[in-house]
Amino acid sequence: MYNEKVMSVFKNPQNMGEVENYNAIGTVGNEVCGDIMQITMRINDDGVIEDAKFKTFGCAAAVASSSTATSMIIGKTIDDALKLTNKDVITELEGLPPQKIHCSVLAEDAIRAAIDYYEKNKQSK
Ligand code: FES
Repeated sequence: MYNEKVMSVFKNPQNMGEVENYNAIGTVGNEVCGDIMQITMRINDDGVIEDAKFKTFGCAAAVASSSTATSMIIGKTIDDALKLTNKDVITELEGLPPQKIHCSVLAEDAIRAAIDYYEKNKQSK
């Protein structure tokens, strides 16, 4: 079902776990499959994402998507990270089966939720 790229990322995922001293956290779930993805990040005062990690309780496509998405946003500004879409993740993974597209949406949503958290907490300081 999965291409070789997806399988290799799934078997050797990058950025798994939780960022120490994170200041951004986003947790999202898919009601249909019940899978959950959490992304933590440390964002510096210049709005640059210094580190990002994920915890995913989900399928191989969700793990591969979150690994890829976190790798793609490290070193980027939050504005650039917000431009990342699930299509970019799918392109990087060289494709996902149609029934697995929603798994990549989880990664996009988790990044947005984490940045949203960061923005809200920043304002309240
Ligand atoms: Fe639920 Fe992939 S089937 S995230």
